[in-house]
Amino acid sequence: MNNTIIHYGKQNITQKDIDAVIAALQSDYLTQGPRIKDFEDQFAKYVGSKYAVAVANGTAALHLCTLALGVEEGDKVITTPITFAASANCIRYCGGEVVFSDIDPSTYLLDIEKVKTLLESVPKGTYKGIIPVDFAGRAVDLEAFRKLADDYNLWIIEDACHAPGGYFVDANKNKQRCGNSNFANLAIFSFHPVKHIACGEGGMVTTNDTDLYHKLLALRTHGITKNETEYSNSLEFACGQSEHFNQYPGWYMEMQTLGFNYRITDFQAALGSSQLQRANDGLEKRRAIASNYANAFNELSFIKGQSGVVAGHAYHLYIIEVEDRLGLYNYLRKHNIFAQIHYIPCHLMPYYKQFGWKEGDMPNSEKYYKKCISLPIYPTLTYEEQFFVINKIRSFYNG
Ligand SMILES: Cc1ncc(COP(=O)(O)O)c(C=O)c1O
Repeated sequence: MNNTIIHYGKQNITQKDIDAVIAALQSDYLTQGPRIKDFEDQFAKYVGSKYAVAVANGTAALHLCTLALGVEEGDKVITTPITFAASANCIRYCGGEVVFSDIDPSTYLLDIEKVKTLLESVPKGTYKGIIPVDFAGRAVDLEAFRKLADDYNLWIIEDACHAPGGYFVDANKNKQRCGNSNFANLAIFSFHPVKHIACGEGGMVTTNDTDLYHKLLALRTHGITKNETEYSNSLEFACGQSEHFNQYPGWYMEMQTLGFNYRITDFQAALGSSQLQRANDGLEKRRAIASNYANAFNELSFIKGQSGVVAGHAYHLYIIEVEDRLGLYNYLRKHNIFAQIHYIPCHLMPYYKQFGWKEGDMPNSEKYYKKCISLPIYPTLTYEEQFFVINKIRSFYNG
């Protein structure tokens, strides 16, 4: 192997992507052009949702969701500690209270039984919503979460940042694609370069709810609407004169709520659309790499948590659990393999500890954190590189 660094994730930019961005840059629009709606329509089709709203990044997507759902000061919302901080932070942006609930150690996903216990332990109405995360690309069984949420009148935001193209199989044996919003009220994605689809920065919210869709559109752009049917000021006021008016003038718009500038640009959307064309191919490559790792590690005593390739998994991450994780991490880095750790449990971040969270609160997550390591996985990772990684892991443990 040469001296190039093998990162845990990496974007794949082709000449077609570059051409698409150049065409956008040479067009009349840099920001709010037609490529955004095209990208939204294609993405909604890809995941199987009615609506999609493209935004600046996945964090903005989460914030727009908590705003659209009306999270307020003190509202309690449940999420997993094994996720990127943004999944929890979006609750805090609205003044809500983050309630972490532990993972299932066999899937690394929010454990529904633990959520159930949490909900049963307090009067109905105590909690407002749940944010399950399709962590690493493994789809949450949202049908089961929906049933539970309905019993307690909760909303669900699916954090599907790791899982475009992933799915779970429902009780009727139908594949339910991550983000199709058949069970969640809203779902969100990130187009950060390590994710399946790269826009530089970018994100998407998907939903089947028309009311939420219109709220998201306004909140994404300062709380402004240009939809005449939503105007509350009079036609006379809008026109600025007392006669000769019969319709709202072309310039008119109303800021009706406090929103943000969370828009994506047209050239980022051009890149997103171009990347989306290859999304299925990328997914297959990720699954093939996962399969190679799973076969290579099968029955090796120093690797834990290997259960073969999981159907519907989108393999944003390929995680193994090992003893002497720090030793392995340093050894791999010495050989230019930049594995990563996903994640340091959120409840033990100093910011969240100020609310009383402490070691011992989430035993499964904490145990998982001590051993987890994410190996390189991305569509252009060569066969040779995969086996370089596998052999280095073997040689670390076998000496
Ligand atoms: C699970 C999860 N949620 C949310 C985000 C936030 O997305 P972004 O980085 O696009 O803001 C990320 C990105 O790393 C993520 O992995």
